[in-house]
Amino acid sequence: MLEKLKKRWQVNTLGLFLIILTFALGGTLCGIAGKRVMLLTGMEKNITWYLIYILIISILWPACVLLISIPLGQYLFFSAYLLRVKNRIFGKNMETKNIAIFASGAGSNAQKIIDRFRNSSFVNVALIICNKEGAGVKHIAENENIPFLLIDKERFFRGDSYLPELENKNISLIVLAGFLWKIPLALIKAFPQKIINIHPALLPKYGGKGMYGQHVHSAVIAAGEKESGISIHFVDEIYDHGKTIFQATCPIDENDNPESLAQKIHQLEHKHFPEVVEQLLLNEK
Ligand code: GRF
Repeated sequence: MLEKLKKRWQVNTLGLFLIILTFALGGTLCGIAGKRVMLLTGMEKNITWYLIYILIISILWPACVLLISIPLGQYLFFSAYLLRVKNRIFGKNMETKNIAIFASGAGSNAQKIIDRFRNSSFVNVALIICNKEGAGVKHIAENENIPFLLIDKERFFRGDSYLPELENKNISLIVLAGFLWKIPLALIKAFPQKIINIHPALLPKYGGKGMYGQHVHSAVIAAGEKESGISIHFVDEIYDHGKTIFQATCPIDENDNPESLAQKIHQLEHKHFPEVVEQLLLNEK
């Protein structure tokens, strides 16, 4: 049972514990708050009392759970969870959303996103696009049986930018997960606010052309920063410039070097990127 939940929610044992704790504390807080409200009404405990009490706790429950989720670091999980519940209750169209992942390297973020949505009826990783022959992400696409497309530079920058392929797959969101090329204007115009990127530092610092991979971490450490983190942002025509959607931080110790910092950053990315993707899709009109 617990293993099933871990798989379903794509969390480790600690994550599952924190989620259950949030449910428990949120429920308790909601019960207490509900009783307080009922006391204020001065009503006698009869069937109407219970009916109103149930109504009140149903309204208070989401707020209580969200409140508790913040200090327990589970806000992203619960906001997505509550949106799913809301969409189901109000019968909002939960048709499958197709996403395309663009990547140039190993593809560990791509893998995490694929893992999260493997059994999802709501999100489907429909296409992986890569600009580098031999990139690890190609093997991931093969193992996962996901259509894979290797970019031809000329067509990408001066042709149709693979718009027909993206339109054919009815792509709702383009996710750049370690994609090193600039996105052509044609794609940005065709997918307004529908292309997101993850950057391994706290933008607006340490972004822009040439700021990728170890270059970023080396610059952060050389500047003597005490913390770094990740930024997930919309993509516009300027490198690492679009509106920030989400940031998370990690401390930098004096023993850290670019490699150890890269590991910390990857952990943050793997934890948050899939959640943010899901949230954006859930919030889509
Ligand atoms: C990540 O650190 C991401 O922030 C950056 O490129 C890296 C990709 O790593 N844009 P991976 O290929 O997902 O392992």
